[in-house]
Amino acid sequence: MRILVTGGTGYIGSHTVLSLQEAGHDVVVIDNLVNSGEESLWRVAELSGRIAEFHYVDLVDEAAVENVFAGNGIDSVIHFAGLKAVGESVQEPLKYYHNNLVGTLNLLRVMERHGVRSIVFSSSATVYGEHNPIPYVEKMEIGANNPYGRTKEQIEDILSDLGAADTRWHIALLRYFNPVGAHPSGSFGEDPQGIPNNLVPFIAQVAVGRREKLMVYGGDYDTPDGTCLRDYIHVVDLAEGHLAALNHIADRSGVYRWNLGSGKGSSVLEVLHSFEKAVGRPIPYEITGRRAGDLPAFWADATSALADLSWSTTKTVDQMCEDHWRWQKNNPNGYKI
Ligand code: WQD
Repeated sequence: MRILVTGGTGYIGSHTVLSLQEAGHDVVVIDNLVNSGEESLWRVAELSGRIAEFHYVDLVDEAAVENVFAGNGIDSVIHFAGLKAVGESVQEPLKYYHNNLVGTLNLLRVMERHGVRSIVFSSSATVYGEHNPIPYVEKMEIGANNPYGRTKEQIEDILSDLGAADTRWHIALLRYFNPVGAHPSGSFGEDPQGIPNNLVPFIAQVAVGRREKLMVYGGDYDTPDGTCLRDYIHVVDLAEGHLAALNHIADRSGVYRWNLGSGKGSSVLEVLHSFEKAVGRPIPYEITGRRAGDLPAFWADATSALADLSWSTTKTVDQMCEDHWRWQKNNPNGYKI
């Protein structure tokens, strides 16, 4: 099939482009390059032997999105494009609502005009909010507690309403937990702009000498070692989960929700020590105060994706850290030379 991947030059997007190409699909990428570069697609092409068709387009420009679809024979869409920093979304909510919602509405209107009614949406475990018991189950009430998470929840609502109004739509909502790692080749991976918000890219930058030490946000939580528990998932497993969802909805209309997670929680210190094993030496850290908004623990109930998609995670936290380190060691400054 011919698949449009929005945000396809990004961390999860580029890994999904490779999985799609390895499965024999043609890939078209739309990206505004606000948080990534086209270099990732060249690295992917070195492995797949095929370069994705790239369009430097911002989804908020509906006419530009229309030009990508016109005459391009797109069969389905995987929609990653969006701003995704929780803290930034609290500071600049309007930027997040405009970019994430208007971009999605433009995409859906153009899809509708071209009779493309198959979409896999990149949602997030953050939609579960702070009141649900763990493990999180898809049928639970959702209620994000930050503007970023609310854009994900609202896009889920838009897609759910669309699927209820028009049964010709085939819709998969994928709620990711904590994506980490990189393709085992070490040639492409996560390259955050500026100071990494997330744990593993920060650890990797300490290990490669770009940062002095890891600040562990809180060591006094009610968890086995006092640090927060999260459900880490290898980005290659995550990419394969998108293919599994795409295949599932290919001949099934309706709206489907799946958690993409391992079903297990790992602590900050467990991940840090796993990364130290990959690097072969201690990584400096300091336990500091808690980060506002952090939950002590959450992880997925991953049974639905296994039952419906025959998909589950295959890689361990050690493998995630080994692969993430190989990428960072080979590319100390990310894609910048
Ligand atoms: C994990 C743990 C931190 C950095 C976020 C988003 C979520 C999703 C994944 C998009 C926490 C601790 C972190 C550091 C630390 N993104 N930590 N020092 O917060 O679980 O989820 O990313 O969908 O929406 O909320 O991930 O990697 O930021 O934090 O101690 O320098 O690591 O306190 O306990 P999080 P994270």
